[in-house]
Amino acid sequence: MEAVSQTARWTAAARALESEREDALFTDEHARKLAGDTGFELLKRYAGAGTAPFIAIRTRYMDDAIMRAASTVRQVVFVAAGMDTRVLRLPWPDDLVIYELDRPALLDAKAELLRGARSKPVPVDLAEEWTGALCDAGFRKDLPTLWVAEGLLFFLTEECVRALLRDLAALSAPGSVLVSDMTSAASLKNPFARSFLRALSEDGAPWRFGTDDPEGLLLSCGWQVEDLREPGQEGANFGRWDYPVVPREVPDVPRSFLFTARV
Ligand SMILES: C[S@@+](CC[C@H](N)C(=O)[O-])C[C@H]1O[C@@H](n2cnc3c(N)ncnc32)[C@H](O)[C@@H]1O
Repeated sequence: MEAVSQTARWTAAARALESEREDALFTDEHARKLAGDTGFELLKRYAGAGTAPFIAIRTRYMDDAIMRAASTVRQVVFVAAGMDTRVLRLPWPDDLVIYELDRPALLDAKAELLRGARSKPVPVDLAEEWTGALCDAGFRKDLPTLWVAEGLLFFLTEECVRALLRDLAALSAPGSVLVSDMTSAASLKNPFARSFLRALSEDGAPWRFGTDDPEGLLLSCGWQVEDLREPGQEGANFGRWDYPVVPREVPDVPRSFLFTARV
């Protein structure tokens, strides 16, 4: 499995710990198995800068956004699904078709560990041409789609992020929704996250892209932001965020953006 795919075990480990809390924001009963020892080692290695609470908040924000959109679309595509188990743990409408995109080795490892998922795995490299593989798997661009791209965009170059967002928009019938997250430019050089960022780079999965203008970037790629929150704000706090939320007009601040957008 590629280095960047190992990060999927890390996020699964964070979800396992959240799931085991009495006041859990969600229950992912498969997360501990999918994380494996590697996931928990990475959770220690990448600790600091609020990463574990952020993953819990992000998961819950996206669970809520996904469930709001699920009854309005006909197909769901997890873009870089990793070890996410929403296919099994969320109450989907019966007639929804679900696709999971990721690197081939990750999808093979996941299939070994997780049986009975109703999704169609589609092995791709999202930094190259990938839309043909999704269409070959049965995806229909004439039907409204919910796209979920969680914990992905910071691993891609700006050029790849723009190309990916444009491809998603081009495949989106009216009514399609994108739920995703991005980081600010300052997050890539956050002094409080230096050891986390260095560890990711050393492990071969560096953060490559962040922007202070997610709304502008999305608009230029065909997406209109409907909802955008930073962890700690109402609707993205859930009693997990101990850090101040700095007003948006303050420049050069490390930030994470959770958002829902429409074509
Ligand atoms: C941090 S994990 C997030 C996984 C999952 N969405 C989650 O939130 O747990 C990042 C995922 O992006 C995938 N990924 C990164 N670059 C990719 C690429 N070029 N093509 C396909 N998948 C990629 C990795 O394999 C990994 O599963």
